[in-house]
Amino acid sequence: MKYGLEDVIACETTISRIELVDGKAILEYRGYDIRELAKKSCYEEVAFLLLFGRLPKRYELQEFKIELTERRELPPKIIGLLTHLPPYTHPMVVLRTATSYLGSMDKYLHDMTHEKNIEKAKNLIAKFPTIIAYYHRIRSGKNIIPPTLELSHAANFLYMLHGEEPTKTEEKALDMDLILHAEHELNASTFAARVAASTLADMYACIVAATGTLMGPLHGGAAQEVMKMLREVEKPENAERYVREKLKRGERIMGFGHRVYRGVIDPRAELLRELAKKLAEERDSKWFEISEAIAKAAYKLKGLLPNVDFYSASVYANLGIPDDLFVNMFAMGRIAGWTAHIIEQYENNRLIRPRAKYIGEKERKYIPISERD
Ligand code: CMC
Repeated sequence: MKYGLEDVIACETTISRIELVDGKAILEYRGYDIRELAKKSCYEEVAFLLLFGRLPKRYELQEFKIELTERRELPPKIIGLLTHLPPYTHPMVVLRTATSYLGSMDKYLHDMTHEKNIEKAKNLIAKFPTIIAYYHRIRSGKNIIPPTLELSHAANFLYMLHGEEPTKTEEKALDMDLILHAEHELNASTFAARVAASTLADMYACIVAATGTLMGPLHGGAAQEVMKMLREVEKPENAERYVREKLKRGERIMGFGHRVYRGVIDPRAELLRELAKKLAEERDSKWFEISEAIAKAAYKLKGLLPNVDFYSASVYANLGIPDDLFVNMFAMGRIAGWTAHIIEQYENNRLIRPRAKYIGEKERKYIPISERD
């Protein structure tokens, strides 16, 4: 038995490809190299690619962008929900609760045609940023800032969150971050989504399963933990001692290690490092400098390499995103990949139902409750 299903092939997919070749990792979305997509595409184009399996023509991208912008606003009932949730609710709990509520309002919830599922996917991709930004403003006692039709997916999110339009560098940074988080084969949350889809549960139910799974610190929750570590380390000079002590206690260094990228660098971490460095040059360099010192120590002391969650922490910090929204940022990118996988599962479905090896006691004699001491 492979504990944690390591290296087990559980389905076939045409959505993304991860392969380790000659000590280097290849990561492609629908056959296109992640490095090229991150540098040349925008998030909307990548979402189209993931959903439809091909790059859009210019007019198709334009139409797709308009379709998303038109779906950005939230129904008043969802805004009411965000207002009534306790202000200490974790934003990921808010996101999954709002997703479930959105499902209850979709009159095509149980319509499993391809057309209607694409419609649900667009709806979720468009609304995730608004749910996240609105909730943050509401819990901070600020007015919500409605989405604007003029700005891109990434720029509009920063605008709704901060109340002012981002600079070009900030917009590109978030756009690239979303592209890098958009898809990653059969990670835990995507697998959870596909398991739910294999029962023919509706798309919102599958996304609730995925958001719940993403939240854990071994998956998307790691970025928030990375930020906690950066704050604890305080300055680069403390990094090596901090990492050594953590390892001595047998604890994990968050943002390091990966189930698939064993001994090779996660290509997303390389790209996010470049991005974090660029932002550090223009904004605050503190978090990047501490990150670099931790990465050096983690490699020196245990040969650990950073994963996607490591440098995204300093990117988000420099974009003014609060620590407890980091997982939501991951979800905001990954929603495109999740919905593409759910549709792929529906279209070639067989119930995912593995077996467990029983290792407990067998054939025990039942003792009536009156005879138990
Ligand atoms: N810190 C310290 N040691 C580690 C770490 C780490 N972050 N990651 C792996 N190791 C060690 C582990 O202790 C073990 O060493 P040894 O053989 O000496 O006992 C070895 O590496 C293999 O670890 P594993 O537990 O078999 O690895 P896994 O494939 O089960 O776990 C992981 C993968 C991502 C859960 C793990 O690396 C980890 O806990 N990382 C920290 C949390 C994190 O950054 N998660 C984000 C993952 S990437 C993006 C995402 O999915 O969200």
